[in-house]
Amino acid sequence: MTKLTQIILRSALGSMLLAGGAALLCNPAFAQSAEKGREAFARNGCWQCHGYQGQGGAAGLKLAPDPKPLVYFEAFIRNSNGPMPPYSEKILPKQDLADIHAYLSSIAKTPDYKTIPLLNQ
Ligand code: HEC
Repeated sequence: MTKLTQIILRSALGSMLLAGGAALLCNPAFAQSAEKGREAFARNGCWQCHGYQGQGGAAGLKLAPDPKPLVYFEAFIRNSNGPMPPYSEKILPKQDLADIHAYLSSIAKTPDYKTIPLLNQ
């Protein structure tokens, strides 16, 4: 493959990924609801491994605060082939996935201990 073909292929792939991500994020059908996401997170059993607040635990990683981008979430959740079971669109529709992401994004960061007077005496 020539250098030029490689560059063209790479940028085509890049813009496809960007377009896909933008469609997912900007499509009004995917207006996200943190409240519905909290329910979907509970209903789909995510909490069993990741904790109710996505704080992580013995069986699953920390997902919040500061969850990874929605595009990453979707790619991982649909295709996981490790210890986490994959969730197909039939089991976890895109809307629920986007809501779960909104829920995890809504979880506030714990304050830095340096900002808590009692812990600085
Ligand atoms: C049976 C336990 C289990 C359940 C249920 C589960 N997960 Fe996971 N999840 C894991 C484990 C373990 C990992 C790390 C897997 C790996 O690295 O291959 C993971 C990884 C992830 C990641 C990638 C995190 C990162 O930083 O790379 C996301 C996102 C995620 N889970 C979301 C969810 C959501 C949303 C649900 C519910 C729909 C869910 N998980 C249900 C165990 C679980």
